[in-house]
Amino acid sequence: MSASKIPDVVLQSSSSHHKMPVIGFGTASTSSTNDTKEAVLEAIKVGYRHFDTASIYGSEEPLGEAIAEALQLGLIASRDELFITSKLWCTHNFPHLVLPAIHKTLQSLNLEYLDLYLIHWPISVKPGIWEFPYSEEALTSFDLKGVWKAMEECKNLGLTKCIGVSNFSCNKLEKLLSFATIPPSVNQVEMNPTWQQKKLLQYCQAKGIIITAYSPLGAPGAMWGSNNVLDNELLKEIAKTHGKSFAQVSIRWLYELGVTVAVKSYNKERMKQNIEIFDWSLFKDDYEKIAQVQQHQMCKNGPTKFIADLWDGEN
Ligand code: A2P
Repeated sequence: MSASKIPDVVLQSSSSHHKMPVIGFGTASTSSTNDTKEAVLEAIKVGYRHFDTASIYGSEEPLGEAIAEALQLGLIASRDELFITSKLWCTHNFPHLVLPAIHKTLQSLNLEYLDLYLIHWPISVKPGIWEFPYSEEALTSFDLKGVWKAMEECKNLGLTKCIGVSNFSCNKLEKLLSFATIPPSVNQVEMNPTWQQKKLLQYCQAKGIIITAYSPLGAPGAMWGSNNVLDNELLKEIAKTHGKSFAQVSIRWLYELGVTVAVKSYNKERMKQNIEIFDWSLFKDDYEKIAQVQQHQMCKNGPTKFIADLWDGEN
């Protein structure tokens, strides 16, 4: 499988355009750092070029080590062949803490630049608080305008090619667009057949913001995940018709909607399977079946249950 088999999408970011492979490899995992490093190397071998991490995941360092080893082994000729996303954690969601945070991330990854830097959640947590999920006392007001200005500075300084957000509602995106000099290229949100977010998708597409779906398989086995996608009878039926897996049906459905995905598998066969979705299509009646799938949001509370307007009543 060569890298060219995963198509790219063009991210709009101010005057520049930057290409992002439509399938990214997720690294939010409780696995050991060595397992993450080995999984990333394997993923590069099977054709992944887009890797998704975050300062909170603890996977920046093993990802960076895997990239260095992939270069050494000649699996890639240059770092530019990769697309690397990381995210600003809530304890650094303050204008003066954004630059130190991206520098720390780059240091952990041992890279000179990111391809995409995202605000992880629209929430500010007092610096230095690690108890999780966050209590009401841990929260403080989120200065979106100030934080976004600092994100823009990250791009202007060349520390990241593009900037974006994660877990933003239409309402918060609207607010952000009202003052952004550089609009967000991406909004990374929970999206899969059991959480379809049609309104948010339509809004983002109208504004040229690319959605990246996290938990595209419902994150079975993860602390925040469920087996709802895995066990869904309609998806199983569709998968059987096409001779594919439930995972391939979910990822293909997202791809056909114009959504990019960050999918996690540290298993060689499954990571291969998850990118074998480009030489077949869903049928019209598959869409009708998927429209009937019962909806359930997994990450309703995010890192705290004390933010009443996290989704601005849009869900
Ligand atoms: P594993 O790493 O053992 O493959 P999501 O991407 O929605 O967060 O889901 C990630 C979870 O789904 C991981 O636990 C992963 O386990 C599992 N997974 C990934 N790909 C597949 C697949 N093709 N079939 C079944 N389970 C999968």
